[in-house]
Amino acid sequence: MKLFDPHGFGSSVVSYAGLLEKIEILRSTLRWAPRLERTDIEKLLNQSNALREEVMQLSRKERFVEAASEAPEALDALARPDALTPSAHRRREALIERSFIFEGIFGDNPKLLAALEIAEKAAPTDLPVLIDGESGTGKELMAKVIHANGARADRPYISVNCGAIPENLLESELFGHRRGAFTGASSDRKGKFESAHTGTIFLDEIGELPLQGQVKLLRVLEAHEIQRVGSDEPIGVDTRIVAATNRNLRELAAQGRFREDLFYRLSVIHVTLPALRERNDEIPLLIAYFGDEAAGQLKRRPVKLTPKLRDFLLTYAYPGNIRELRNLVYRLSCLAGDTADIEHLPDDIRPKPAALALRVAEAEAAGAPLSLSDAKRAASDEAERAFLERGLQETGGTVAELARRCDMNRSHLQMLLKKHGIHSKDFRHADKVNHEKES
Ligand SMILES: Nc1ncnc2c1ncn2[C@@H]1O[C@H](COP(=O)(O)OP(=O)(O)OP(=O)(O)O)[C@@H](O)[C@H]1O
Ligand SMILES: [Mg+2]
Repeated sequence: MKLFDPHGFGSSVVSYAGLLEKIEILRSTLRWAPRLERTDIEKLLNQSNALREEVMQLSRKERFVEAASEAPEALDALARPDALTPSAHRRREALIERSFIFEGIFGDNPKLLAALEIAEKAAPTDLPVLIDGESGTGKELMAKVIHANGARADRPYISVNCGAIPENLLESELFGHRRGAFTGASSDRKGKFESAHTGTIFLDEIGELPLQGQVKLLRVLEAHEIQRVGSDEPIGVDTRIVAATNRNLRELAAQGRFREDLFYRLSVIHVTLPALRERNDEIPLLIAYFGDEAAGQLKRRPVKLTPKLRDFLLTYAYPGNIRELRNLVYRLSCLAGDTADIEHLPDDIRPKPAALALRVAEAEAAGAPLSLSDAKRAASDEAERAFLERGLQETGGTVAELARRCDMNRSHLQMLLKKHGIHSKDFRHADKVNHEKES
């Protein structure tokens, strides 16, 4: 957990865990201190207990960042291009005024604000929440936000990755087991649901849960009790469920791979997180935020960006969403000196030199200046390529949609893509989740 200090933006990342650890060390040192009077030791222990309580209280409310409520003006201005309606800005301010707790940062994007407003309303209830969105859009962060803004904030928050547990261990992992229930079960063991009792369980990648596990989960949702593997005794659990997926559960249900009844149970509140390209107005804000965060971690000044790199970062499609942007900013902050440029980008996303510039360079190297008609052809190729790439970005890699938009024959469009070596799938994302839900 980290604490974002809006006054010293980027400079102060305090670890609560580190602070608590220091207090624990202090307390145990005092307990065993040989030369202090007993009454002094008790006094100091009481003081450190009080300090610990204070940190716990603080951590409860503030271990999640209060959405950069006093973000520096420059950052605020970046996040609020003129094109955005002031009402979105008011919605953001209102969330912050209501002490909405958030780890990270958000701007005025209406789609994200809508998701946050749903999360805020759902948080104080015990209703199950399903969060979906492409990989890297912040689903796990959103689950923590829901927990942190709810009545269970200081109760356990237990996270389970349903896609990472081998099928034969799943039941024991979720519900625990009795000693001797299976080979290797050498003692009684609590499962994740019991650990999350009175708190929240975050079921990540719920779409990967095998059908058998789905049946068991449905039972917990209905009866609020579990049975450890190898035991008949029901154990009551009061656990709030937040689940996340980057799959389209409705579609999986239609294919018989996800139980429809479970889908409806889990999605009483359904939050969809927008892909970064749908909230690209927030890219400057995120770059500034991660730039400062990386500078803090790497103990350097925040990296500057050349205009060319900045343009690239503002228009790139980010198939890996916020995670990709964050990793990029960390990479730039690590590899560049004072200022980062295009050359510091990873090879696979670095923009290729423009066709025209390349042809001119080739012609010059060959000692023959480029003819006017060749220069025109190269420029036209370049424009064509840029047009196609932009179009695919906007349609999420859907060739049929692009063909419709520019009133072009689909097979002709396919031919042009082939000519430029552009693959529509490179622009396609789990965005289908959103598209399909709308249709
Ligand atoms: N609004 C935000 N502010 C700051 N950081 C963010 C924000 N949203 C997401 N992040 C960061 O982006 C990264 C990806 O977020 P997260 O792990 O929550 O995504 P996810 O949707 O669960 O991804 P996946 O589907 O791959 O599991 C994390 O490092 C997270 O802290
Ligand atoms: Mg995740």
